[in-house]
Order: sequence, then C-alpha cells, then structure tokens
Amino acid sequence: MEQIQEQEIISMPRIGDAAPEFKAVTTQGDINFPSDYAGDWVILFSHPADFTPVCTSEFMTFASMENKFAEANCKLVGLSIDGLYSHIAWLRTIKEKIEYKGMKNVEVNFPLIEDITMDVAKKYGMIQPNEDSTKAVRAVFFIDPKGIIRAIIYYPLSLGRNFDELYRVIIALQTADAFEVATPADWYPGDDVIIGPAGSCGTAKDRMEDSDIDCKDWFFCTKKLDKDLVLSKVLKKK
Ligand code: BEZ
Repeated sequence: MEQIQEQEIISMPRIGDAAPEFKAVTTQGDINFPSDYAGDWVILFSHPADFTPVCTSEFMTFASMENKFAEANCKLVGLSIDGLYSHIAWLRTIKEKIEYKGMKNVEVNFPLIEDITMDVAKKYGMIQPNEDSTKAVRAVFFIDPKGIIRAIIYYPLSLGRNFDELYRVIIALQTADAFEVATPADWYPGDDVIIGPAGSCGTAKDRMEDSDIDCKDWFFCTKKLDKDLVLSKVLKKK
C-alpha cells in the first residue's frame, strides 16, 4: 500500500492529557464533551462506518453490556464519520433485523456522534491516513471523572474489539485509583495486586519481611485484595 507522505498535522491526545473539548450532534441529542460527563468515567470510541459487519457486531455487543458499564460508573459514547440519519437508520436496522450470537432486539441507548466534518475524529487522532483517510480507526479512549484520558487502545479496521477487555480496563483503572495499587498481567478482581516499587532500602527490607506481602524480589511485591472489596468500591451499590 502506498504510504501517505504529506498529511495535515493530526493531533493525538495522550494518556494524562485533558480530553479535548467538543460540541456534537448525536443520536441522543447534542452533547458538550467532556463537561456533560463530569463525575463519570466515559469510554469514547470510534468505528469506521455505519452498516458494516464488524461495527455491527461491536455495537450489538457494547449495547448489550451498557448496563454493566453503567454499574461500573462508566458511560459510553460512539463516533463515526457518518451523518445523523445514517446513524439512526443503522441503529433501527440493528434493533429490528439483526440477530447475532444470541443477541436480538438490541437497542443502542448511548449517544452516537455524527462527525461528517471529521472535526472530532481529527482532534482525537482517530483518522490514521495510512489505514484509511476517510474512516476512523477503532479507537477507544478511557476518560476519568475529571476529564483526563487514562488509557487509549487503537485497533485497525479489520479487528473487532474485545469488550470484556474494555470492561476489565475500566475496573482496573478504578481499582488502581481506589486502592493505590497496580494490576499485573491479565488481572481480574480477586487476583493479587502489585504494590508500588520500594522507594528506599528500608522499605525494601520491610516488605521482604512482611508476611502480608508476597515479594518475588524486593522490586516485585504483591498483596491480596479481596474481590468483594474491589467490587464494593468500583461498582455502584444496587
Ligand atoms: C466493518 O466494520 O465490517 C468494516 C468497516 C470498515 C472496513 C472494514 C470492515
């Protein structure tokens, strides 16, 4: 594939940045982002186009998990470079006609942004011209209640996202904040968590001798964190 050499400068927000602000028209009315979401976690994600198969499978999966994300204090906002009426027609088709992996009558209740001008997609680096210059890639921005970008995942057009992983990321980010810990590879609630690196020789020694802490070596220490405790902090009380 011929690489695009000359391209306009496209901003790429990074982890730790304030989420770029925008106003947009969506399938659920106008939104001011991120101010309308202050106090909540939000996943802002893009997809390449309406009425395409991978995107349809993704929307059905995400919509069927919307309540699960809501319980984890997380709202969902989608975007593609299509118009409002295309969005509405596609979401109606999904609800009325599409059955996939046991999901049917799926109603997408979270907002889907129309972005024909690509203004929002460009602000968020969702257009990656060497992949496609007129379609957004599958970008996922995890934004915290203060409007700060905390994690970003990008996928190419051909690869449907793993929504269990997106949920795991939301839970892990909140766990790290609530308990001041880090989460190791493939962590799920109930697994041991990692405590921050020892900042002094004394702390390193103390940790090696602490029976509540499991140190593989002085720099790699884990501790137990009860699953119910994690979930009671991270999930909304029912
Ligand atoms: C899809 O969602 O199926 C798709 C969209 C754009 C390019 C390739 C696949």
